[in-house]
Amino acid sequence: MSLFRVDSSIRQEGSVSRAVADTVTANWQAAHPTGEIARRDLATTPVPTDAWTDSIAGNYAGDARTPAQQQAKDLATELADELVAAESIVIGTSLYNFGVSQHLKSWIDLLLTDPRFAPGQRPLTGKTVALVIARGGGYGPGTPRDGWDHATPWLVRIFQDVLGAELTTVAAELTLAEVTPAMAELVPLAKQSQAAAHELAATTGKAFATRQTASV
Ligand SMILES: Cc1cc2nc3c(=O)[nH]c(=O)nc-3n(C[C@H](O)[C@H](O)[C@H](O)COP(=O)(O)O)c2cc1C
Repeated sequence: MSLFRVDSSIRQEGSVSRAVADTVTANWQAAHPTGEIARRDLATTPVPTDAWTDSIAGNYAGDARTPAQQQAKDLATELADELVAAESIVIGTSLYNFGVSQHLKSWIDLLLTDPRFAPGQRPLTGKTVALVIARGGGYGPGTPRDGWDHATPWLVRIFQDVLGAELTTVAAELTLAEVTPAMAELVPLAKQSQAAAHELAATTGKAFATRQTASV
């Protein structure tokens, strides 16, 4: 049984998404000590930005593939293999410029060039995915920026609706409150949000492992 974890925060130190993803991972591991954990860090090892176009061209080139196209297709295969091999997946990310992280987008775009991840294939059916997102501001219902988080809905669309996974979203909000004087009065809410995120992350990690243990 295995868990695959991908991180995309551009911060290694002080990253809230990494800390919350750690909580999912640790709880999965505690409940499932023999389980294997594989990881990919898209901040330290980004997918090359030209791999996507090369992989698509390679899909149409047949035997006439260039070395760059073949290399891109091989990388797409490797990315797809990592997800297919895991029963549970943890995706750690951050809200950047009201959208999805560039590194995560490049990874997903390349992944979707693998034939197993083509539209309609739903290769993550039966797998559990924890989508962990850290946001500097607040985006709750009724707040001024309600609807401005364009990362979470898209990621849910891809992993749940397109790829078929059973998805749990764990969000920590207002992470900039502690370092932004204008947000000082929001610090208690930020702490509440992070505590709730860790709590849900722990429950999610245990639930993923328990489900797997029960199914073997
Ligand atoms: C370049 C950049 C752009 C950001 N854009 C947004 C944004 O649009 N909305 C927001 O709420 N926070 C934004 N933030 C704040 C991050 O979402 C926040 O710091 C989050 O905690 C980062 O994730 P991490 O803690 O895992 O590193 C941005 C941060 C950076 C560095």
